[in-house]
Amino acid sequence: MGERKLVVIMVGLPARGKTFLSLRLKRYLEWQGYGVMIFNAGRYRRDILGMGSSRSEFFDPLVKRFAKERERIAERCFGDLTEWLRAGGDVGIYDATNVTRARREYLRGESVANGFDHLFVENICDSPEVIEEIIKIKITRSVDYRDKDMEAAKRDFLERMRHYESVYEPVDEDFPHIKVFNFGEKVTRRFDPRHILFDEMADFLGGINLAKKEVYITRHGETFFNLEDRIGGDSALTESGVEYARELSRFFHGMDLVVFTSRKKRTVETGRFFDCERVELEELNEIDSGICDSMTYEEIKLKHPEIHRSRSLDKFNFRYPRGESYRDLIQRVKKAVVRIESQRRDVLVIAHRAVNRCLFSYFIPTPSRDIPYIEMPLNRIVRVYHRGALYDHEVSSVEGGVGGAGGQRGGGRGVSPRDRG
Ligand code: SIN
Repeated sequence: MGERKLVVIMVGLPARGKTFLSLRLKRYLEWQGYGVMIFNAGRYRRDILGMGSSRSEFFDPLVKRFAKERERIAERCFGDLTEWLRAGGDVGIYDATNVTRARREYLRGESVANGFDHLFVENICDSPEVIEEIIKIKITRSVDYRDKDMEAAKRDFLERMRHYESVYEPVDEDFPHIKVFNFGEKVTRRFDPRHILFDEMADFLGGINLAKKEVYITRHGETFFNLEDRIGGDSALTESGVEYARELSRFFHGMDLVVFTSRKKRTVETGRFFDCERVELEELNEIDSGICDSMTYEEIKLKHPEIHRSRSLDKFNFRYPRGESYRDLIQRVKKAVVRIESQRRDVLVIAHRAVNRCLFSYFIPTPSRDIPYIEMPLNRIVRVYHRGALYDHEVSSVEGGVGGAGGQRGGGRGVSPRDRG
């Protein structure tokens, strides 16, 4: 990854959403090209000791035999993490409670001894509503409580929580850390400021919340440049493009939305019939096609055959001279991802083909070589919704322009080499 390998050490009482945050962080970093793996201590415990170890007695700090077992399992799990990093991984996320100073000293020592950077991410939650919601998720979804009576499961889990509370020590100030309070309420950070990635992670994690918002992604309406197959520029909407803009606002009528557009005329015009909050984001501007801006693909092929050739060989990494590549674009669009994740309302993004492909691939993991071929035609809405801690999607078409019939829902994704642009 160009920098040193990194160990992210989660800290927090049970039912504070450490696994949820770990999964989100993994997605965010993987999308940027890092090799990331989560090592979950609870899973190691179940695999090694079986389901009997899920009872609250096992977590009683006063029972020496169990404390020893827990240490052994934690060390084994962390050992696998360090081995995985040595074998080529970039970021290992250690998803465990790690609530005592002694345990964290051990983890810090191991990380330093292996030459890895380390960062503690403490999840602090004192909101009874948030804790209640996570407990509900935990006892309905965790394998620890599969086939158990709900009330008994909850009692046992609360007892487990009390055991951890009795030994909990917050992360000390002199440890490099991010502290996340009540999912999106507040984030504090302390680490060497040269760690730019840590800062970015703090911004990202600080915005993650439990709202079940949906994210809708669409392109601007048809433009005069679209009619000529020209890329880039700052063209206005055609009549049919304006009709799409109207259809779109009807499609979302009555929904509590925030609309993000780029700063280009075509997306701002597409959003103009919405009377909700609208925000223009520079980072949603279309890929910068450098010296090819405003040209047609045919013109590029004739005037710059080498660009046409290199681009078709590796479209993800190809950077337009004086412009950007898809890889570069992800580094820009990630700022929009942080903004979107921090919303609690549904979000509509009106942007551009390449930008939307990058954005889509954050929510729905897509191999980087396929990102530049994700189908993203005009007059189409991709609806992204929550599935557990991750996302799923469906596609709807809004037929703008002549003979428009709004709101046809379709399904599934499309990655098609025919969607060229
Ligand atoms: C577990 O065993 O479920 C969690 C262990 C830990 O977080 O340290």
